[in-house]
Amino acid sequence: MGSPAIAILGTGSYTPSRILTNEELSQQVETSDEWIFSRTGIRERHIAAKDETTSHMAAAAARIAIADAGLTAADIDLIIVATVTPDMPMPSTACFVQAHLGVLSHAACFDLNAACSGFIYALDTAWAMLGSSRYRHALVIGAERMSTVVDWKDRTTCVLFGDGAGAVVLGPARGTAQIIGTKLYAEGAHAHLLCIPEKKCAPGEIAADAPQPPRTITMKGREIFKNAVREMEQAAREILDHHQIDAAAINCVIPHQANLRIIAAIGQHLNLPPERFFVNLERYGNTSAASIPLALDEARSTGRIKPGDTTLLIAFGAGLTYGSALVRW
Ligand code: UT7
Repeated sequence: MGSPAIAILGTGSYTPSRILTNEELSQQVETSDEWIFSRTGIRERHIAAKDETTSHMAAAAARIAIADAGLTAADIDLIIVATVTPDMPMPSTACFVQAHLGVLSHAACFDLNAACSGFIYALDTAWAMLGSSRYRHALVIGAERMSTVVDWKDRTTCVLFGDGAGAVVLGPARGTAQIIGTKLYAEGAHAHLLCIPEKKCAPGEIAADAPQPPRTITMKGREIFKNAVREMEQAAREILDHHQIDAAAINCVIPHQANLRIIAAIGQHLNLPPERFFVNLERYGNTSAASIPLALDEARSTGRIKPGDTTLLIAFGAGLTYGSALVRW
């Protein structure tokens, strides 16, 4: 007997109410709305308030996804949060989410770090765990508070990122909806191109004595751009080939929302028109692991994804990590 079919039963998302526009940013660093919008497609991003932690945003998105799935928090027995901005190094953000939700079922909880590809990695992981039939309903969340790891004086990165969360509930397929496949990749040799250098202690030194450089994002933008186009195209082609699905049969592509020019280039390479891609980065910027589930929820709630549709998700991020997923609704 094969693995049971698993489907996305519900989606949800949350973004903080505070909006930071390109205009406002141009008062802080030497930039302009014209530069940011023409080079990235971003107009504004959401910024978390002081008490709006990653787990709070994740739980807010999760509540909506659970209700959308027609379930209650007690039905959830696995919570995975993909994030590079956990509330704390320990315990996991997923444990905080469980507490916020008041989950009584002792759901297994852990975080996963695959940077901007985190949601696809978490989806793959939860799909496999549910496929083993040892778990029944999983919350898979991408949540980020990128505003805490951005160097707000560095115009080459601070204009790109935003905060938010997106969540899905996975469970036994109802009807024809199901996850068709996932594919994950990583190229550690290029890890240095995009990273948050860690606070380091020299051998024999204790943290209190060590210099504490700020933990902010450093990125080789042009190199990342080229890799993102090449690798997201590869992730898309290989999953379509593997499942013998023609690109033209995909109703909606949800790419990682980093840069509109990256998305446009992938569309050209795959010979897919721009309308086939769901894009919302104009209003959110790059929300890292939250980007795909945030877009997915918006695509569903606005009717862009309909029952019976086949959706292709493609991600790329630090690692370098990349991956794809095919989902039928
Ligand atoms: O989620 C992980 C994946 N991350 C990404 O996918 C990001 C990928 N990279 C990119 O999206 C683009 O490389 C950026 C948007 C980061 C940069 O765009 P670019 O067209 O590659 O610009 P550039 O880095 O080549 O810089 C061009 C010029 C430079 O000035 P000079 O050296 O030509 O005088 C920069 O200093 O633009 C300047 N610049 C800016 N000017 C105004 C860089 N950032 C800004 C800015 N405002 N914010």
